[in-house]
Amino acid sequence: MRKHIVAGNWKMNMDLAQTQELISSLKLQLVKETDVEILIAPPFTNLYPAFEALRETPIKIAAQNMHQSDNGAFTGEISAKMLKSVGVKTVILGHSERRAMFHESNESLSEKVNTAIANEMTSIFCFGEELEDRKSDNHFNVVKKQIQDGLCHINEKDWSSIVLAYEPVWAIGTGETASPEQAQDMHKFVRNLIAEEYSDEVAQNVSILYGGSVKPNNAKEIFSQPDVDGGLIGGAALDAVSFMQIVHSF
Ligand code: G3P
Repeated sequence: MRKHIVAGNWKMNMDLAQTQELISSLKLQLVKETDVEILIAPPFTNLYPAFEALRETPIKIAAQNMHQSDNGAFTGEISAKMLKSVGVKTVILGHSERRAMFHESNESLSEKVNTAIANEMTSIFCFGEELEDRKSDNHFNVVKKQIQDGLCHINEKDWSSIVLAYEPVWAIGTGETASPEQAQDMHKFVRNLIAEEYSDEVAQNVSILYGGSVKPNNAKEIFSQPDVDGGLIGGAALDAVSFMQIVHSF
């Protein structure tokens, strides 16, 4: 049975004091039992304080990126070993903002996935089309290439460490959420692609999250789609009440 997951991608927001305040507010919202796996992804500087503050809670932490090398002359980068040393076991890879602004290629992302697997970390692998891809009805081809080039080299057994996150770029931070039908269509397409590339078992067990303007007022309808297993949340993750309302939207 695949997991329901809600992860908050804080992006470049929250200093140490704000992180501690938001985590305190999140703890106050942990009043209802849930089988949903909850993660937050603060900036690198706040990962260890967040790990410490969340030790006794069900909320796990994730990094927003990671370098593919173990160490070396990569100024400004962070390795898997460094992340594991501060309690991080999950990493977001291939977010559209990194693909666009930092020119992350499917090839470099495939190397990062390999590094995460080698370090027994879970990857939340992001993919999604630009608006012009969808307008030209090329969105399925774009996503197919991102998945095939970024992930379809790994062994079947390693898919247990992969979470997929469909984030249509035109829906990120815009308030233009994909419709539940649009999300379901792409999630179903990706699940069928994984079944063709690997097996029905792998396809049925991988969690596929939706990201792109998920809010408390739209999460329930999106999460009710048969192939949507949760969300990767941006703006709404910076408010404890909104984030936990989304967690409880299943
Ligand atoms: O990674 C999640 C993020 O890209 C979605 O952002 O603000 O549209 O929820 P937002």
